[in-house]
Amino acid sequence: MTGLPPKPDGRGGRIGALRFLRLLRRDILSAQSPRLYRAKMAEFRTPFFRSYVINDPGLIRTVLQERPGDFPKSPHLAGALGPLLGNGLFLSEGADWARQARMVAPLLEIEPRRALPHLHWAGQAALARLEARADRAAPVALEGFARHLTADVMFRLMFSRPVAGEEARQLLAVFDAYQASAPLVSLAAVFPGLRGRWPAVKPATRAAARELRKMVARLVARHRAAWVKGQPPGDLVGRFLAATDPETGQPMEKVELVDQAVTLLLAGHETSAAALSWVLYLLALHPAEQAAIAEEAEAALSAGPVDHAVLSRLERARAVAREGLRLYPPLPMLLRQTAQPEQFRGRAIPQGAQIVLSPWHLQRHEAHWPDPDAFRPGRWRDPAQAAARRDAWMPFGAGPRACPGAGLAMAELVLLTAMICRDWVLRPAGPAPRPMARLTLRGQPPLMAVVTPRRRSDGT
Ligand code: HEM
Repeated sequence: MTGLPPKPDGRGGRIGALRFLRLLRRDILSAQSPRLYRAKMAEFRTPFFRSYVINDPGLIRTVLQERPGDFPKSPHLAGALGPLLGNGLFLSEGADWARQARMVAPLLEIEPRRALPHLHWAGQAALARLEARADRAAPVALEGFARHLTADVMFRLMFSRPVAGEEARQLLAVFDAYQASAPLVSLAAVFPGLRGRWPAVKPATRAAARELRKMVARLVARHRAAWVKGQPPGDLVGRFLAATDPETGQPMEKVELVDQAVTLLLAGHETSAAALSWVLYLLALHPAEQAAIAEEAEAALSAGPVDHAVLSRLERARAVAREGLRLYPPLPMLLRQTAQPEQFRGRAIPQGAQIVLSPWHLQRHEAHWPDPDAFRPGRWRDPAQAAARRDAWMPFGAGPRACPGAGLAMAELVLLTAMICRDWVLRPAGPAPRPMARLTLRGQPPLMAVVTPRRRSDGT
């Protein structure tokens, strides 16, 4: 067992608004006070802006589950992501969101079972890419590897075809350009005087979004054309094309189809890639756990086609996936806003204040988790940690806006981790990465591993 896996330092003591904002724009994690690993709530206030991190399971339940309508998603999120996602399921609010959720969420919920063969094929294509590397001794950039793999999964599920070669490179480059230049918090968020005068995103970010939306619009149009000639394809986009609102009978409009398709492509591949790359990095740091997963995978995956029964036998891989999501939640902080004045823990919170729900801090909170910063997959079988697992683990959010792709994402994470460890050995390479939160949680410098073939127990 190596030391503790990487964790950012967090800011020092009290800091001013400008420094807080600068840290926030670079990386929302290192802007936070280390006190949050012990506290139930923390306030940051300037004359123009109040932000509250809520770290208490009861209050989190109030915000996300009991009264979600009083805590809409923060408009800063729409500012940062709107040019890319439009008014899709992730960003919409109120009656508009409810209509979209009626149409889109049920299509996603049935996905985990339908998806298993596609996950398996995408996994095999990724293993072949590892095999085909010109230089096996050169370290692999885990995030790039995982992003290609999870984008391929989403393409297969959405458009019934893989994404590879130049198309994959272009798609990931545009998402990367967007992630690199879109701050989650704009200057106008903290200084209201700048609102309307300061662009939420830079012109280059907007251009990257336009390019990506055009790519997706072309794919959707091709699908629509195929449908006009025959049956709607059975994939996700085909089902979107055929879906009607159960209350009004209306189908989705053209621009909304693109909004939903880009939303799924981004929400479905960036998050899963962040989760997979951190899980693989954790396993690179813990060779004994990695070997145990390889053994479990060899036994389970050699039994025949990958179905639900095979997936349920991958217990160790599931525990590692959950522990990876605990230590490195791909969306480490969720942003909301108060629609009216509130009283939280005896403090008056004004209307329009930012409320931050932080899976990152909750999932490493000293009051809930023994050895919170340690990688301990065994805690997922420990009866003494059942309350923590129930109250202090929320990588997929909670309540009506919780992730509708959670079942699919877990199946993906467990199966792909098992397939990779069955065939390959990972060892950490390069300097230790610092977790850094932009749209999703990445490593800085990037997560790297040397990946060499694993010798099987039968000698192959
Ligand atoms: C490990 C992988 C994933 C993680 C950690 C994750 C996490 C989350 C979280 C935390 C939210 C709630 C955000 C909030 O409340 O502000 C969310 C929402 C969402 N996720 Fe995921 N997600 C993952 C994979 C996926 C996949 C595979 C899909 C699609 C196939 C997906 C589609 C969505 C959508 C559409 C929403 C918005 C739901 C709404 O607002 O009604 N996610 N996700």
